[in-house]
Amino acid sequence: MKLPQPSVLPLFLNADWRGDLPYDGSVLSPADMAEALAAVGEFPGYAPTPLRALPGLAAALGLGEVAVKDEAARFGMGGIKALGAPHGLRHLLARQALPAAACTAIAATDGNHGLALAWAARAFGCRARIFVGTAVGRDRIELIRSLGAEVVSVDGTYDDAVAAAELAARAPGALLVTDTDYSGDLPVTRAIMAGYSVLASELARQTDLGRHTHVFLQCGVGGVAAGIAAGLWRQLGRTPKIVTVEPARAACLYASLRAGRSVQVAGTLETRMVGLACGRPSLPAWRILSRAAYAAMTIDDADARRVQDALAQGIGGDAPLPAGDTGIAGVAGLCAAAGVAAARAALGLDAASRVLLVSSEGARP
Ligand SMILES: Cc1ncc(COP(=O)(O)O)c(C=O)c1O
Repeated sequence: MKLPQPSVLPLFLNADWRGDLPYDGSVLSPADMAEALAAVGEFPGYAPTPLRALPGLAAALGLGEVAVKDEAARFGMGGIKALGAPHGLRHLLARQALPAAACTAIAATDGNHGLALAWAARAFGCRARIFVGTAVGRDRIELIRSLGAEVVSVDGTYDDAVAAAELAARAPGALLVTDTDYSGDLPVTRAIMAGYSVLASELARQTDLGRHTHVFLQCGVGGVAAGIAAGLWRQLGRTPKIVTVEPARAACLYASLRAGRSVQVAGTLETRMVGLACGRPSLPAWRILSRAAYAAMTIDDADARRVQDALAQGIGGDAPLPAGDTGIAGVAGLCAAAGVAAARAALGLDAASRVLLVSSEGARP
């Protein structure tokens, strides 16, 4: 099967990469991650998600191995965000004098974090109030409501919804379970990232992590990628080559790595990879990724769509892997990079490469 080729490939190699040094744990400590692993393992319905080998894709791309962690079944919530929000809420409730029934969990969302928080709030017996921007579709809003949460629509982007949620969280009994922290000192956002690091702990039980040369991770505000990167770094004592992947129109990590500091990107942030439509990195995530990311790249919506369709059919005899619009981004990033000679050379992608990917959400009905 012929894979889609991007016409151009924006790729930036991070001069500040420190993944060859030992993990320093200053943002997420090993104890934070161990606590998350123990806590998440006790949530109802916990089961590690599968790691699927994609030899057909590897052959099509001229790589040694490709394996994808398939998050579709995560807690029945459809994706990786269900690892973070419950652990964040649990963290806040444990430090609250009020009973859960007197608390309201509050967050802004591109869709999946809010869904996960609504689910967690119901499981822990508190209310949930979720703020969404105009990019979030009706079906997602209805799904969040169906879990008993109140949904507040904000006329603006995800970043506007974040601001509205922060304001609402000043009310008594309100718990801001935000996966985005622009100040850099919110323990709850770090707890959420520790929740995502569980994926790396699962991987360590599913594969010999040290064999893997590259990991492509999709980024919105960067929390998911940073949690996974921190987990891998701690497990291995170094990082594989981690490549962040973002939509071309919402590439805040790419812009920040180029600038050497966290920056905000302008524009509507419009992309079909709606979970990645973020204009500014979360600071704790930036602090990890600015050292853990070997490179940053962006992809176009159309290229992501073509990879999503190809993967859903199964490439080169691989079993079909139905991934959501956001979930496909890391796989699409690898396909784009592997198809451009200059990018292959810059990243050292060749027949000896063994690449890990995360399909961070399953196909939506
Ligand atoms: C399925 C999925 N994958 C990845 C991400 C990116 O997460 P983050 O914003 O923490 O970078 C999101 C964000 O909502 C998401 O929904």
